[in-house]
Amino acid sequence: MPQSQEVIEQLESLRGEFDALIAPLTDEQSIRHAQAQFMGKKGKVSLLMKQMGKLPPEDRRTVGAAFNQVKTAIVDAVAQKLDDLVQAAAAADLARTVDVSLPGREYRQGHVHLLTQVWNEAVEIFAELGFEIALGPQIETDFHSFEALAIPKDHPARDMQDTFYIGDDIVLRPHTSPVQIRTMQNQQPPVKIVAPGFVYRRDDDPTHSPMFTQIEGLLVDEVVRFSDLKGVLLHYVRRYFGKALDIRFRPSYFPFVEPGAEIDMQCSFCIDGDPSVCRVCKGTTWVEIGGCGMVDPDVFAHVKYDSEKYTGFAFGMGLERQAMLRHGVNDIKYYYEGDLRFLRQF
Ligand code: PHE
Repeated sequence: MPQSQEVIEQLESLRGEFDALIAPLTDEQSIRHAQAQFMGKKGKVSLLMKQMGKLPPEDRRTVGAAFNQVKTAIVDAVAQKLDDLVQAAAAADLARTVDVSLPGREYRQGHVHLLTQVWNEAVEIFAELGFEIALGPQIETDFHSFEALAIPKDHPARDMQDTFYIGDDIVLRPHTSPVQIRTMQNQQPPVKIVAPGFVYRRDDDPTHSPMFTQIEGLLVDEVVRFSDLKGVLLHYVRRYFGKALDIRFRPSYFPFVEPGAEIDMQCSFCIDGDPSVCRVCKGTTWVEIGGCGMVDPDVFAHVKYDSEKYTGFAFGMGLERQAMLRHGVNDIKYYYEGDLRFLRQF
């Protein structure tokens, strides 16, 4: 057989081989890969082309034409195959049916934690009365937590607080009252702040947790009276509980106020019902919500305020207790356990 005839036959068989190779392919990547195996630099057709040089010059024309024909055929076959794929995909897309009656997928939405809600709401109510927000560190100095609040080192109030000591002079603050000191150290009267925040004490039972939140209030100005304190707290209780509840003061002792008092409010639980069976106030119709009083001149001396010129009131209330009273939560631990069955109710 003449050499040229042989090349043409090999060319024919390569073409058949290529058709067979791409027939079953169904993705662009493998089709392009097949094309490269034949038409690439080291592809089968390209390698065969190298034989051209060895052919008798009078045959080269015919053989050259045969090469071009096969190359075009391969390129066309690839284009056709790719077009088929596009058509098939479009057809499949059109044929797809969507069942619009299927139930949708539910995405659960998170929400603000109950305690944060109370925190925000309390701040908002006091803000309506013109109080600004003040914050302080949770790791506090002995000076801000006690000394400047007229609670000297040997004072029994330090045991009363059951404080976590981190060092001799560093504590986890047992109340938000140090924010009073920090605020007064940094600004002159008038001062009108509320300070919400986490506090720590070695307490642990259904109504006490070693970490809990308080909101502190402080108002200092030229003529501040106990009746102003009463007005502010009464407004707060009525706004927060949404009922015309009354408050009362029971004389009590906090070294940094004089006079000092415990704040009681009427039990929001049994006010419209039968107090004798109320588990919240245990039949007394009153519940304690915090401490308060008129700022002691000794505290003013620590922050260099003139106690002849200025008077002030301060209060501190636990925030957990407020939500417990409003929503009937009966164990403070629910706030911190992260149980979604509890949290989702609020
Ligand atoms: N800091 C006190 C406590 O945690 C509460 C309080 C605040 C009392 C302000 C009087 C004035 O018990």
